[in-house]
Amino acid sequence: MKKIITVITLIAVLVMILAACGQQSTNTNGENNKETVAPTDASAQTDETEPDDPTAADPTQPAGSEKDVLVVFFSATGTTKAVAERIAAYTGGDLYEIKAAREYTDADLNWHDSGSRTTIEQNDKSARPEIGSEDLSLDGYKTVFIGYPIWWGEEPRILDTFVEKYDFTGLTCIPFCTSGGSGVGRSDKNLADHAGSGNWESGKLLNRVSDADLQSWVDSVR
Ligand SMILES: Cc1cc2nc3c(=O)[nH]c(=O)nc-3n(C[C@H](O)[C@H](O)[C@H](O)COP(=O)(O)O)c2cc1C
Repeated sequence: MKKIITVITLIAVLVMILAACGQQSTNTNGENNKETVAPTDASAQTDETEPDDPTAADPTQPAGSEKDVLVVFFSATGTTKAVAERIAAYTGGDLYEIKAAREYTDADLNWHDSGSRTTIEQNDKSARPEIGSEDLSLDGYKTVFIGYPIWWGEEPRILDTFVEKYDFTGLTCIPFCTSGGSGVGRSDKNLADHAGSGNWESGKLLNRVSDADLQSWVDSVR
């Protein structure tokens, strides 16, 4: 009788072991019984490579290099010009220099002289110095950066000549300036008011700006 109980116990143990093995094999599927979790990241749901998007920007080209950017500047001593050239290089845009028909001499630029040309012009809100550079076509542009030095806390009056001369309808106009320390002041609002057309962004002072800061500002406004 004892032998019979032992044999029955052994058979029972054997059956339990076989049952356990059978259950494991149904779960395995080569994944060591890990639970399968649905991917939450949509991009993780497929290994298929997306076809090239023909409208996607060419990563080999600088941001906005479609020649829809124009960088206009006036610069008496070269500081604003250097910044304008960096913006044009980064955006792939065109450059246009506002040159005075009568170039500003050192004596003209002397702000210590109350009788100098610039002092007289800046004291006269209706002064409109003549532009000497050839006329500009704004056709095809979407964004116009407009650079200038701060004179007596404002834009040089020749900038007023420029913005009153052209129609900026449909264009984004972005003023930028350099100075000896003064801020943008009212210069950006003055330009927008005198232009009377265009979508004008706030002006930006770009004194001694680093490449990284210049590029992140450009990216933020266009
Ligand atoms: C007539 C004149 C007036 C100026 N007025 C100011 C001013 O009010 N505040 C200031 O910070 N810098 C003033 N500056 C300095 C210029 O804004 C600064 O040197 C600027 O970067 C020059 O730019 P540019 O080299 O492109 O002409 C003045 C310069 C000139 C010639």
